[in-house]
Amino acid sequence: MDRFLIEGGVRLAGRVDISGAKNAALPAMAAALLTEQRVVLRNVPRVRDIGTLRSLMEELGVDSSVVHEEHGNRVEIEARRLLNPLAPYELVKQMRASVLVLGPLLARFGHARVSLPGGCAIGARPINLHIRGLERMGARITIDHGYINARADGLKGTSFYFDTISVTGTENLMMAATLAQGETVLENCAREPEVVDLANLLIEMGARITGAGTPTISIHGVGSLHGADHVVIPDRIEAGTFLVAAGITKSHLVLERVEPAHLTAVIAKLSEAGLSIRELSPTELEVHRDGALRPADVTTHEYPGFPTDMQAQYMALMTQAEGSSVITETIFENRFLHALELARMGADITVNGRRAVVRGRTPLSGANVQASDLRASASLVLAGLAAEGETIIDRVYHIDRGYERIEEKLTKVGARIKRISES
Ligand code: EPU
Repeated sequence: MDRFLIEGGVRLAGRVDISGAKNAALPAMAAALLTEQRVVLRNVPRVRDIGTLRSLMEELGVDSSVVHEEHGNRVEIEARRLLNPLAPYELVKQMRASVLVLGPLLARFGHARVSLPGGCAIGARPINLHIRGLERMGARITIDHGYINARADGLKGTSFYFDTISVTGTENLMMAATLAQGETVLENCAREPEVVDLANLLIEMGARITGAGTPTISIHGVGSLHGADHVVIPDRIEAGTFLVAAGITKSHLVLERVEPAHLTAVIAKLSEAGLSIRELSPTELEVHRDGALRPADVTTHEYPGFPTDMQAQYMALMTQAEGSSVITETIFENRFLHALELARMGADITVNGRRAVVRGRTPLSGANVQASDLRASASLVLAGLAAEGETIIDRVYHIDRGYERIEEKLTKVGARIKRISES
């Protein structure tokens, strides 16, 4: 297991190239199962979760290849046939997003056997809505031995209301509906840019979809889909993490290849906290901080609200604000594991249920800490950059799931961060 060693207290300066969005690339790869033709995806981030989904494709008997390009990878998938409809526990437990193959497999091949994802560090994360929605489309679903068995002799259009807004739930049902007979209307859908990117890819593949990015998505099923060549959107969470990196180290950075419109809530909150952020061009953001950080309360919400995937990083920032702030997490019930690790570095944080009070400003000092999930690890890296002395972060594999070479990107702008491999 790799670890990071960070020497904190260093100012950063320079340009950071933002990668493609992991959470857009994963459903896009799953969408390739909907056609026998080749789907080409560009700007795919070089992160571990993408490798996990490729391993799953291999299990299914689906060919995929990766070509290293100037910006990200080009992944090509050609699902001519399905050798095995099974998504095994060993892969699904590594990455819950594996459940995204359920809708496409069922819609195109009429059957799928997908492991239930099980527990998760950040919350219960059930997939009842994915299952209920597919049942509404005519699928027969049973659970045995920890697996979801789904069968359908042709899915049928339906109307379905999500009583909780779900990103991958919306994506799974939208994909399944593209090949269903008739019209499907999904209500109370997730409006995340990653959902819109998936809809755009599906439309390029011949799907008839309207309303992605609004709460109501309508899909007219078609007989078959064809290949496409698609560029994945920039990763708004990676971009947000680097904005915080500049804020917490009182530095000046320019982020390249970003989509500022996807960061409205994050930019607003970080500006309230005292960061200066401005658009240099439609794909470049400049960020710097000169003065003190101000405490600013935040509540996570579904898009277009402040993302839960930025909550941990924001908490690290608030430890350096001149006063107390309240962070409320509304999406996941257990997403404050980083608070205890931040406390080991000197932060003063009280967690009470879904609410955390961060009392700033407390000096941070380097310590040995453990990453518990992807975004929690990012918050520890950020705290390490601001801390006095040396921070060692264990279980860096969590961060490799979703950040492309974060230590290289940080080193390029002046951070002192090293990966130490066990080997
Ligand atoms: N939920 C249900 N039933 C369902 C589905 C979801 O009750 O059938 C609940 C969940 O338990 C949770 C809430 O709905 O409380 C929202 O969960 P959602 O389904 O939207 O999460 P997800 O689709 O599993 C995606 C991202 C996460 C991100 C969340 C929220 C991907 C691959 N993952 O997960 O990303 O935190 O949306 O925005 O898109 C990350 O990248 O670090 C990450 C965890």
